[in-house]
Amino acid sequence: MQLAIIGTGYVGLVTGTCFAESGNDVTCVDIDQRKIAELRNGKIPIYEPGLEELIRRNTALGRLQFTTDLAAAVKEGMVCFIAVGTPSDADGAADVGMVLQVATDIARTMPGYRVIVLKSTVPVGTADKARETIAAQTDHPFDVISNPEFLKEGTAVEDFMKPDRVVIGGNSAHSLSLLKELYTPFVRTENPILVMDNRSAEMTKYAANAFLATRISFINEIANLCEKVSADVADVRRGIGFDRRIGHYFLFPGVGYGGSCFPKDVRAVIRTAADGGMDFAILKAVETVNERQKHLLVDKVHAHFGKNLHGRKFAVWGLAFKPRTDDMREAPALVIVQALLDAGAEIAVHDPEALERARELFGDRVSYHRINYDALPDADALLIVTEWNEFRRPDFPRMRTLMKTPVIFDGRNLYEPSVMQQEGFTYYPIGRTPVVQG
Ligand SMILES: NC(=O)c1ccc[n+]([C@@H]2O[C@H](COP(=O)([O-])OP(=O)(O)OC[C@H]3O[C@@H](n4cnc5c(N)ncnc54)[C@H](O)[C@@H]3O)[C@@H](O)[C@H]2O)c1
Repeated sequence: MQLAIIGTGYVGLVTGTCFAESGNDVTCVDIDQRKIAELRNGKIPIYEPGLEELIRRNTALGRLQFTTDLAAAVKEGMVCFIAVGTPSDADGAADVGMVLQVATDIARTMPGYRVIVLKSTVPVGTADKARETIAAQTDHPFDVISNPEFLKEGTAVEDFMKPDRVVIGGNSAHSLSLLKELYTPFVRTENPILVMDNRSAEMTKYAANAFLATRISFINEIANLCEKVSADVADVRRGIGFDRRIGHYFLFPGVGYGGSCFPKDVRAVIRTAADGGMDFAILKAVETVNERQKHLLVDKVHAHFGKNLHGRKFAVWGLAFKPRTDDMREAPALVIVQALLDAGAEIAVHDPEALERARELFGDRVSYHRINYDALPDADALLIVTEWNEFRRPDFPRMRTLMKTPVIFDGRNLYEPSVMQQEGFTYYPIGRTPVVQG
């Protein structure tokens, strides 16, 4: 099948590449000329495990192309995916301006029947709006399908290749079967392709992210309560996780959720509810808890070192909003680093993949280190903000020698308090009893 993917970001690039990998002819379109030039030169603009190899293979085989020319891509592409951003507007609603702009552009250039697929996360009713927008620009027949994306940054290729389920929403049997055909190679293990109407598909995506964000805020509050009553959240988490109604997944306390999806999608659901005259109380609490959680590590730093951090130096390991990505959109690290800087501290940061992004955000206000140990010399303490695998078994004696004082604030509970006791560290985890060296 000939496909056009409009918007070549985290979702569009992975979608286009994986569809090319399954044998389709794909053209990825973006308005960002630099991004397209880089991709044409074999440079991948984002870090996503496994993606680079697939892009190279499929471009070499001529199945995957990159362009800024939307009209040319739509001319060839029978199915046009819209995968542009839907950022929060000032009221918290998802701004569908870019989605509808692309829908207009497709409508103006399509030479005949087209299937237009909304892959961006869009509020309920956007497919209907897209239909109106397109119909106002063209006399050619078309269908609008909702096909929300559930991939997770860090495992995006794997998620796309082996989705738990595929959701497609629409009202035309012909276009729904085209989409089913496209996705069949990815569901060979019988994972379902769920067909529903547009509105239910749009709502499904928000319900999924809102629920996952709720799990995170819930376990964070349980962790905070554990600290108050001297219980251990690691045990509590295990204790509830074996209940099959609860499960172990996505139940790790930390420094709050971030990224380009959960915060904006939670805000969007709250806003959609408010527009319908409903107060979505749970999600408002989820958001409040999350904002508070982002400050938790800094509160612990102040409790240990006092309010004034002038003359103190802190190392920060992990800046991306989660491991295996370079994405720092709404990352808790942004709040944490800024708060430490505001309190007068000097900051040395390390992240395996996000240093380039961090440089754009922090400029020369912090120092950057490609090797995690290089951030530690003379540090009063280390803060662990993202749970990259390479932080799980570090050389503790080496760390102790490098640091001014052996203190770790662990926002991801990577280490066992008993081990930290033996290794001579003062250790502040989340929801577990801290270790304070005498
Ligand atoms: N990132 C994720 O993990 C994820 C997962 C599921 C769903 N989503 C949703 O998918 C959508 C895209 O997210 P993303 O993270 O890929 O965003 P992104 O910002 O990484 O990519 C969007 C791309 O669209 C391009 N673009 C904007 N206007 C355009 C236009 N008129 N023509 C062509 N290109 C245009 C931008 O230049 C950018 O490269 C959002 O709605 C998001 O909520 C994201």
